[in-house]
Amino acid sequence: MADMYSTIVVKGPQTVSESTESVTITDNRTGQSVEVPIVDGGVDASAWRDLMPGLWFLDPGFGVTASASSAITELDGANGVLRYRGYPIEQLAEKSTFLEVAYLLLNGELPNQQELDTWTHDITYHTFIHENMRKRFYEGFHYDAHPMGMLVSAIAALSTFYPEAKEVNDPHLRYKQINRLISKVPTLAAMAYRASIGMPFVYPDNSMTYPANFLSMMFQVADPNFQADPVLAKAMDVLFIIHGDHEQNCSTTAMRVVGSSLADPYSAAAGATAALYGPRHGGANEAVIHMLEEIGSYDNIPAFIESVKAGDRKLMGFGHRVYKAYDPRARIVKNHADEVFKVTGKNPLIDIALKLEEIALEDEYFKSRNLYPNVDFYTGLIYQAMGFPLDMFTVLFAIGRMPGWLSHWQESLEQGSKISRPRQVYVGPAARDYVSMSER
Ligand code: CMC
Repeated sequence: MADMYSTIVVKGPQTVSESTESVTITDNRTGQSVEVPIVDGGVDASAWRDLMPGLWFLDPGFGVTASASSAITELDGANGVLRYRGYPIEQLAEKSTFLEVAYLLLNGELPNQQELDTWTHDITYHTFIHENMRKRFYEGFHYDAHPMGMLVSAIAALSTFYPEAKEVNDPHLRYKQINRLISKVPTLAAMAYRASIGMPFVYPDNSMTYPANFLSMMFQVADPNFQADPVLAKAMDVLFIIHGDHEQNCSTTAMRVVGSSLADPYSAAAGATAALYGPRHGGANEAVIHMLEEIGSYDNIPAFIESVKAGDRKLMGFGHRVYKAYDPRARIVKNHADEVFKVTGKNPLIDIALKLEEIALEDEYFKSRNLYPNVDFYTGLIYQAMGFPLDMFTVLFAIGRMPGWLSHWQESLEQGSKISRPRQVYVGPAARDYVSMSER
């Protein structure tokens, strides 16, 4: 057995001899080593497992663990680069549409005209929700239910309407559920909002574009001919695009993990939506507005910055696990804010946000920790100016992220991934005998 490790153990598509770089791992207890090639910036952990069975990497929060190989999104955090299937996010935000980007994420290539027409038609004609969802399900929520809580539940409930979704290995049925989720999530989101304010639901209008239809379901009041302002519909589309995917973030990891048990995609997407809900992830955009409102004026910024530096609080909308440079999505959102404000009127909080950014970027505390604005720093200001209440912000993130979640779910199934089942390092009590109640 020991001799097995005296030669090079190689797993994965590229052998050591083909790879120019490698690492060598030595077990100092036995002196045995294994050389592992560095492939695409990673090393195959199965070589470690084979050399030292039963000894686990301890990596809570997955700070140094790549949980998947993926061909969907490239994120170079050191240089502030984000690309979907190789296309820079800046170009997609400027030239593409959300539905085209969704197709790209799912299929790997931009669609030709016929493919885009079919895709757009399929999405547009699946926007309606079963009446039971509207009448019985949504009306059952408490009057002040949070729209994210409603959305998580509603997405999970869809699985009960489409039992064939369990056939996750059938590509035809997979396409159908992907289609339904991207089509229906804006309807569910708008229904959650309308339910939360006690307004009647607005049915989807299949003659409208994806973002315009969503805005109509959200904001139509008494005018059946409501048409969203094209500038706002375009801004909505861009915001959906920049949220489209972000590789192995918390919610996408949740999607892959739930999907790895071969659960249906509605259940997996509900898990991903739940992961997005928290303030460290999709909930940060809401927290930014609370923070800006609390700061209230220029005069209060220095004291606020000092309290952040003292560790009393976080500067919300700043910092990122992967970006150690300016988040390219934040730049796109910042540049769009003026266009939106021309239509909606300026959000007065923007001046505080700009000043806060200016001061933070000059300050040694933030510079030394590579803390820059992330996507959430400016999105909330646009959403608020467009009329979205704060508790809808994360819901908007979920609509944009749905194609990304589904792309990863599909990719993981096509890769024949194993069930996600990490190990633990046990630190609890050693074996002991049960103590009867009278002796405790
Ligand atoms: N304000 C002040 N200090 C910060 C901040 C911040 N926003 N973010 C990180 N730091 C400090 C942190 O205290 C630590 O300092 P020290 O080395 O002295 O202990 C250092 O920077 C490293 O931070 P970390 O906590 O190790 O970083 P992380 O990768 O674990 O956390 C984060 C990333 C996004 C959770 C964190 O930066 C944060 O809480 N930011 C505010 C919330 C936010 O804006 N979230 C949205 C993320 S982008 C949208 C998304 O992808 O969901």
